[in-house]
Amino acid sequence: MSAPSLPRDNPFRPTFGAAPLYWVGREVILRSFERALVGTAGTPGRSLVISGSRGIGKTVLLNELEDRARTQGWIVLRASDRSPIVEDFVETTIPAAIEDISPRPTTRVKQLGLGKVASIGFDTDDQAPYKHNLNTRLRELSGHLTGTGVLISIDEAQDASLEDLTTIAVAYQDLIRDDLNVALVVAGLPQGIDKLLSLPGATFLRRAEKYLLGPLNQSLTAEAFELTARDSGISFSPDGIQAAVELSHGYPYLVQLVGSLSWQQAALRTAGEDSAAVTEADVAEIAPQAISLMGTQVHQPAVKELSPALREFLEAMAQAAPADPVPVHDIAAALGRTLRSLSGTRQRLIDADIIESPRYGELNFTLPYLREYLLARDFGGRVS
Ligand SMILES: Nc1ncnc2c1ncn2[C@@H]1O[C@H](COP(=O)(O)OP(=O)(O)O)[C@@H](O)[C@H]1O
Ligand SMILES: [Mg+2]
Repeated sequence: MSAPSLPRDNPFRPTFGAAPLYWVGREVILRSFERALVGTAGTPGRSLVISGSRGIGKTVLLNELEDRARTQGWIVLRASDRSPIVEDFVETTIPAAIEDISPRPTTRVKQLGLGKVASIGFDTDDQAPYKHNLNTRLRELSGHLTGTGVLISIDEAQDASLEDLTTIAVAYQDLIRDDLNVALVVAGLPQGIDKLLSLPGATFLRRAEKYLLGPLNQSLTAEAFELTARDSGISFSPDGIQAAVELSHGYPYLVQLVGSLSWQQAALRTAGEDSAAVTEADVAEIAPQAISLMGTQVHQPAVKELSPALREFLEAMAQAAPADPVPVHDIAAALGRTLRSLSGTRQRLIDADIIESPRYGELNFTLPYLREYLLARDFGGRVS
């Protein structure tokens, strides 16, 4: 009698911000950043600006960069999502980091009558003749470090207040001027990052290393399917890998999603069997669900934040041709507009990395399945 097959766990993680089980790509960025960390203060590679669409892998890359900095002994200050960044750094995050590195002396006081021991911390900073700001706090933290530095990491920068970003930019620049070891990694949606770079206080960020994240190439994508599933009890057959590569277009969120759904499909199909593999048919089976989830998770929020004019342009583009590339002429004709009057709209969509121009007069959708999403929904995002 054969042993009952072990319960298997799905190894794919189609969740925003969730580290993939098996990491692929982005090596250029990781290597350059690691080199910069061991380099001298002020090395340009210590300031990184990462942009890209939802689901392209900004957050997990930020996490990976933070991990690599920590491994080299750096302190990571991470701007948390909803709280005001600067206030949080000055009041909480940096004091906590300092406390971590060199705990303040405490005196033990035996409370009369109670017999209990209480700890009272002496906060020498309380006697500081000035009120702390980001600059003084960062300098204080730096003073506790030897040979390493402080990494400031800001995700979803498009949602941060411009005032906070300017304060951080100014303080950061000031520390660099004094040769202190600081690094800054900023990630966000392309439009938000453009706005950030145009801030008067962020001049130096224009000299930062900038990366626009794109999809993974075919061989990295194939590697992701094969090696993520390797120890999961269900492998990918060669034709399964090929089909999954095609369906996912190397778009990281879709890679995890297609991996997860097709793995689950194979698991159901082969329940109780000893060996199992994801086949081409499994991938075909889950394709509609993967495309639909890509719509609700990636396209819907992306389209929602666009102005009506931009949405109308995309809609006309989706209707103008069944596949890329789409002649700009046809879009203009459908909208009853001149090419010239549409050039601003077109450029804004290109800047947002939603469409791209492969050749003069032609446009492609950058996000996989955005055309399908637009054709299936009306402007309110309702299913037709
Ligand atoms: N380099 C990578 N290798 C494998 N999977 C990745 C990679 N980058 C991102 N992913 C996966 O893609 C999905 C989206 O990543 P995330 O960082 O949340 O995107 P973003 O922050 O750009 O919206 C997650 O499920 C993540 O595990
Ligand atoms: Mg993210």
